[in-house]
Amino acid sequence: MCGIVGYIGPRQAADVLLSGLARLEYRGYDSAGIVVNGEQPDLEVRKTEGKLANLRQLLADRPVQGKSGIGHTRWATHGPPNEVNAHPHLDCSGKIVVVHNGIIENFAQLRTQLVSSGHRFVSDTDSEVIAHLIEHYLHHVADQDRPSERDFLQAVTQTIMRLEGAYALAIMHRDFPDMLVAARKDSPLIIGHGVGENIIASDIPAVLEYTHEVVVLHDGELALVHADDLEVFNLSLERLEPELMDIEWDLADTEKGEYEDFMLKEIYEQPRALRDTLRGRMADDGTLQLSELAMSDDEIRELRHVYLIACGTSYHAGRIAKILIERWAQLSVDVVASSEFRYGSPLIDEHTLIVAITQSGETTDTMAGVTEAHLKRARVIGITNVLGSRITREADGILYTVAGPEIGVAATKTFTTQIAAVTVLALKLAQVRGTLPQAEIEALFAELSRVPDLVERVLADTDAIVAAAALFEGVDSSLFLGRGIGVPVAMEGALKLKEISYIHAEAYPAGEMKHGPIALITSRVPVVAVATSSATHEKVLSNVAETQARDARVLLVGTQGDQKLAALADHVIYVPEVSELLSPIVSVVPLQLLAYHVTKARGCNPDMPRNLAKSVTVE
Ligand code: F6R
Repeated sequence: MCGIVGYIGPRQAADVLLSGLARLEYRGYDSAGIVVNGEQPDLEVRKTEGKLANLRQLLADRPVQGKSGIGHTRWATHGPPNEVNAHPHLDCSGKIVVVHNGIIENFAQLRTQLVSSGHRFVSDTDSEVIAHLIEHYLHHVADQDRPSERDFLQAVTQTIMRLEGAYALAIMHRDFPDMLVAARKDSPLIIGHGVGENIIASDIPAVLEYTHEVVVLHDGELALVHADDLEVFNLSLERLEPELMDIEWDLADTEKGEYEDFMLKEIYEQPRALRDTLRGRMADDGTLQLSELAMSDDEIRELRHVYLIACGTSYHAGRIAKILIERWAQLSVDVVASSEFRYGSPLIDEHTLIVAITQSGETTDTMAGVTEAHLKRARVIGITNVLGSRITREADGILYTVAGPEIGVAATKTFTTQIAAVTVLALKLAQVRGTLPQAEIEALFAELSRVPDLVERVLADTDAIVAAAALFEGVDSSLFLGRGIGVPVAMEGALKLKEISYIHAEAYPAGEMKHGPIALITSRVPVVAVATSSATHEKVLSNVAETQARDARVLLVGTQGDQKLAALADHVIYVPEVSELLSPIVSVVPLQLLAYHVTKARGCNPDMPRNLAKSVTVE
């Protein structure tokens, strides 16, 4: 939530900041701003309400020149999304300027203290206190007229120690045009380390145009950034060795290419992403390779219970994982929304495994659950798509999905690769615990390895999906049904539709309809049912017939060759045959595309749905 960028080097900072913010716009898009330190030096601020296009226009009308600067794209928390609340924020002297991602929980108290000592605030944001607090401390540590870089760094450190909550910060001082300061706690921040230039950013895509070498800043660290030099400190201002990483992603991965929208591109990337995620997971002798779990076979055998924690789409991957782990590894599993987990009373001991699923690796609710689990001494495995993200440092073992950068706010390829990862995990647990015959494990893995080809077949012919989108014309509400492993697929289909098209979509286990929701059915409430081959296939069809008897218009996702479906529904989308427990990846892809086409038909932007941001770093 909120994207921040900072640049220092030989280029025009405004150009780099704008291109970086464009790659971070998925993190927030209700206002944007930059500040550049000009040649004088002088801080030139430009900010606007609305999407980045408005800022781009403002900069075309009133350009700024300078070789260092910071920028921000906002997802509002404190204060409406207007120009005044847009970042950057300045102190009273107009010399200290800050961009912030996160929430300062004690801002009201800090603001009251600062106001009583004479500071004047202009915005409603929590972030503005940071600029004033630095000003306050700088006044105490330095001769106001001639502070040194070191004084400034010390004032920033003292400020940070007063902040409660989460922050990623990029900070500048007018009188130090050759220096930026970056700091973080519980919000992501990296620094792209180029040749004679450095770029601070919330996420990797913003730096790839300039460098593939990245320093990951850890919680409680701050960096002093010059064009040709980069130093990392702890809060006692002791120097630390920066942790450098090489990023393998291509710049092209972060661009739309021939596609109209990132979401569509990412849907079509799924066969590749799935193959990359599954590659090398089974050795020639049939052993599943998951050494990153960092668990001995004995520890796996001693497990008694698994908690899966995750949010949103990742939670749906957790619901699928529960079914697989219980069936194959014969372990009892609870799936809990991360935001509920930390405030519940989970029964955790040393035989409990926590699996935290988060594509971004930064979701605050999920990370809070990880902290809670560690306090109770449980082992935590993280499943994530982002190298160097917070979960990779905090979990005991990490399983990566290899989806590549996902820019569209609606998760698509990260979801299907999460399903692939949890399927391998469930098979691995079963293999070590001896709960599934080896031949069956090998057959299931072989079939899983063919799933990317099946997804390719779904993507090759989407006419039926485009036609089915017509069912949603002028509709305000819809129902998504399934049974068994079809329930989380229906849940994901409903989430995709509602979050990008703004049509209400409720997912329900098909057999539960008669206990209440069937009252909602009218001809204006379309029903989408996951009706692929399964042990409960006939039951799903009976439940669908019950809705049709009440005038529902019906779309079925069914298995190719299932002749009877055409007579039972207004539309049928056929997917290739696959075993029931491996079916979610194949059956969710048409639902992703359905949501996409309905959204486009309504003239909405699937990549930037209202009120949402990709990485949710608030509670
Ligand atoms: C929906 C979506 C969100 C995320 C959720 C968790 O399309 O993307 O529901 O799944 O915010 O995010 P991660 O997986 O990053 O923890």
